[in-house]
Amino acid sequence: MVGSANLNVMIKAARKAGRSLVKDFREVENLQVSRKGAGDFVTKADLASEKIIRDELMGARPTYGWIAEEGGAAEGQDPTRRWIVDPLDGTTNFLHGLPHWGVSIALEHKGEVVAGVVFDPAKDEMFFAEKGAGAWMNDTRLRVSGRHRMIESIFATGLPFAGRADLPETLQDLARLLPVCAGVRRWGAAALDMAYVAAGRYDGFWERRLQAWDMAAGVVIVREAGGLIEPLDPRGDILGDGEVICANDALFDGFAKVIRG
Ligand code: IPD
Ligand code: CA
Ligand code: CA
Ligand code: CA
Repeated sequence: MVGSANLNVMIKAARKAGRSLVKDFREVENLQVSRKGAGDFVTKADLASEKIIRDELMGARPTYGWIAEEGGAAEGQDPTRRWIVDPLDGTTNFLHGLPHWGVSIALEHKGEVVAGVVFDPAKDEMFFAEKGAGAWMNDTRLRVSGRHRMIESIFATGLPFAGRADLPETLQDLARLLPVCAGVRRWGAAALDMAYVAAGRYDGFWERRLQAWDMAAGVVIVREAGGLIEPLDPRGDILGDGEVICANDALFDGFAKVIRG
């Protein structure tokens, strides 16, 4: 697939950050860890990855705005375009030596995500999509799963950790969903969860209390793979609310009915 110039900039930045993360992952036991809040960690690996991505993206497109998990936000001269970046999604996995984490880079234009890249360097899986051009993993076109029975389907989510107030809602979601599906997974990297829905590995995903950088790239990747994705509150806004639900087109309504209660 031949991507646009912007997509190529995003992929190049993700690969470069991925190389730095792989190096840090090999010596993860020596990394100093700070805690931003209960259960919310940051390391020099997150910061180094963010700097690499920022230098690449802002070097190539100096007029675009920017928002990233560790470094805050900056308005660009061009108010219509903004990069949305998670330099390391799955920091807790990373710290525990679990090889399931990634880099997420999205481009928003006039409030809509138009391109997204989610890179898993440990598995060398580059998920990417551009509005109207399909979703891909390396050189394979992605398509959501074809399952249409809840009872044969598996779903992913994130579970609240210490200090989070949304435990009761998530427990209620699980109480309604577990009896009617084939399983629920919590792998610990929301951007990869969404890429996996696009790849048909999970049949659906939902999560509360996410941030725009966890989801932005996933939104366009799921849509371009033929999936349906909405804010959990149908009148809401995915990136603004931080609550998302997505699934293949056949399962979406039934799955959403269970989760929305
Ligand atoms: C986290 C992961 C996790 C999700 C958390 C996120 P981080 O991102 O995506 O799966 O459940 O809510 O904060 O902090 O590792 O970038
Ligand atoms: Ca974090
Ligand atoms: Ca994240
Ligand atoms: Ca992160």
